[in-house]
Amino acid sequence: MKIFRTVRDIQAYTKELKAQGKTIGLVPTMGALHEGHLTLMREARKQTDIVIASVFVNPTQFSPNEDYNAYPRQFDEDCQKMGTVPVDAVFHPEPAEMYPAGYCTYVNVEGDITKKLCGAQRPGHFRGVATVVTKLMNLARADKAFFGQKDAQQVVVVKRFVADLNIPTEIVMVPIVREESGLARSSRNRYLSPEEMQAALVLSRSLRAGDAAFRAGQKSVAALRALVKAEISKEPMAVIDYVDIYSFPALQPIEAVNQPALLAIAVRIGKTRLIDNVILGGDETCC
Ligand code: PAF
Repeated sequence: MKIFRTVRDIQAYTKELKAQGKTIGLVPTMGALHEGHLTLMREARKQTDIVIASVFVNPTQFSPNEDYNAYPRQFDEDCQKMGTVPVDAVFHPEPAEMYPAGYCTYVNVEGDITKKLCGAQRPGHFRGVATVVTKLMNLARADKAFFGQKDAQQVVVVKRFVADLNIPTEIVMVPIVREESGLARSSRNRYLSPEEMQAALVLSRSLRAGDAAFRAGQKSVAALRALVKAEISKEPMAVIDYVDIYSFPALQPIEAVNQPALLAIAVRIGKTRLIDNVILGGDETCC
């Protein structure tokens, strides 16, 4: 597995691959890899000739009060895991390589899709994501880029700017990977104490309850939101950030679920903010 740390080296590598006619799949990550990331990489392995993963904790997508400094960094362990896929190359730059002195260009997706759900709670987050993902797709000359459904809003935002900016990369969304307990895999799960880990099961439990009610015929968004909120509130350690339902993938407000819709939740367990979702009326079975 090749490891590149500079823009120059990754550009030279991908230029050569393109000259050879290879298709390139990019899996952008912030490291601290888990099964969810490895599933994205395996999917890329199936769909493209060359798999490039990036491991970069992107400073521009964190607000000053968030966990940028505390975010887990474990590059050697990540490399071992990527070797099992296997991944062909890893791009692992320093922040100054991505944002050198004088850097001043950002990709800002305007409109309401970045202002709701996590966008409402994390101002500037999607601007940072859109900027770094644009740079990574350019550097990788990616034919396809793979993202997890756990960050469903991120997928919608990425698809939006890729379409708006005519970027020739196909965006592939891969279903959520869960622990046997139902807990969605996340790099932030490692912040949870055993007791908090137990409490965190309320996320998938409440989504299952919402999905079951929908399947049993409940279409009202207000009723489904109330039901999911009530389920989460049964867990004393859980503090709700949001419980929302929007049409998917347009992310528009709806009153009834008569088309595929994203039921998305963000919940704080202790100091850790966790997100999870299910697509009501989608193809996948719920958590
Ligand atoms: O989903 C993530 O881990 C990040 O937002 C991403 C896509 C790697 C951009 O930094």
